[in-house]
Amino acid sequence: MAAASGKTVLIGGGSGFIGTALTNALKSKGYLVRVVSRKPGPLNMSWTELEKKGLPENCTAVVGMAGQNVFDITRRWTAGFQQNVWASRVLTTRTLASVINRAEEKPKVFISMSGVGYYKPSATEEYTEDSPGGDFDFLSKLAKDWEDASKLPSSCNSVRRVIIRSGVVLGREGGMINNLYWPFFFGVGGPVGSGQQYFPWIHIKDMVDLIIYSMETEKVSGVLNGVAPQVITNKEFAKAFGKALWRPAFIPVPTFVLNAAFSEERAKIMTEGQKVIPKRTLELGYKFKYQDIDSTCKSCSAFIYSDTM
Ligand SMILES: NC(=O)c1ccc[n+]([C@@H]2O[C@H](COP(=O)([O-])OP(=O)(O)OC[C@H]3O[C@@H](n4cnc5c(N)ncnc54)[C@H](OP(=O)(O)O)[C@@H]3O)[C@@H](O)[C@H]2O)c1
Repeated sequence: MAAASGKTVLIGGGSGFIGTALTNALKSKGYLVRVVSRKPGPLNMSWTELEKKGLPENCTAVVGMAGQNVFDITRRWTAGFQQNVWASRVLTTRTLASVINRAEEKPKVFISMSGVGYYKPSATEEYTEDSPGGDFDFLSKLAKDWEDASKLPSSCNSVRRVIIRSGVVLGREGGMINNLYWPFFFGVGGPVGSGQQYFPWIHIKDMVDLIIYSMETEKVSGVLNGVAPQVITNKEFAKAFGKALWRPAFIPVPTFVLNAAFSEERAKIMTEGQKVIPKRTLELGYKFKYQDIDSTCKSCSAFIYSDTM
């Protein structure tokens, strides 16, 4: 990967789990980072400031990853909350696309996150980046609208557009592992429902490296499935995470409990799954560092947060 001194990367929603890891990795490569956030901070600019002032100087890449946490257990799955989940992704992505369009000096690349919820959960189908989706439930339509929001007009033809349809991002510092760590640590973790549903996953290091690879590799554009090549089920994940913590992991979480806690529509992210293959991601030359779930879970098993980067 090339050296990057003086170049700026703008990350919308870069204060969260993936954004923080990405910021650290970019800084260590010599990039300057600006984060678009609702909160003040030394690196931060607000969404209003971005709309008013446009892209920062020397901006080589724009990354969109803002999004209200779908699994906020304190929030009921109401129409209002769904609207918030939608707007926090779609409207922020539209804002990024619009400031890129207005910029005199265009960035080289616009990378926007999406999710494997784009594909319909199935026990039999296998999905690559070319498979259909985005049209059957709230989460799939959300992914489609989110991806469409990153479209750029023809005046931006020089800007490569990359969409990363991410699986569950696994890392000790946040995301799903953060929620599962203590139940598994105390030996009460286990698969969700039958555990037979697919569990598309990616290590946080690979997610960060894939974003940087997309940024720095001219030939990369279009949709990439952000999932490790190893296809596993939810039960296999639970077994691997239990093993990494030296704990049993066979107490299943009944589907009806999750449906009651989260409502069926959003619980689907855990109770159902898709078999997703990173076909284009591999064809375009990305090499996964974490290829198997055992080594990934081991790296997520530290008692205290460690720098997995
Ligand atoms: N982690 C995963 O397993 C996973 C899997 C698939 C897709 N993704 C997607 O990847 C993106 C980044 O994931 P993450 O795990 O880093 O998420 P995260 O830790 O929840 O961070 C998301 C960021 O979005 C911003 N945000 C939250 N609510 C917002 C709102 N209502 N309006 C505007 N901004 C808002 C927050 O920034 P401020 O508070 O600073 O404004 C937050 O730091 C998300 O969009 C997520 O849906 C994640």
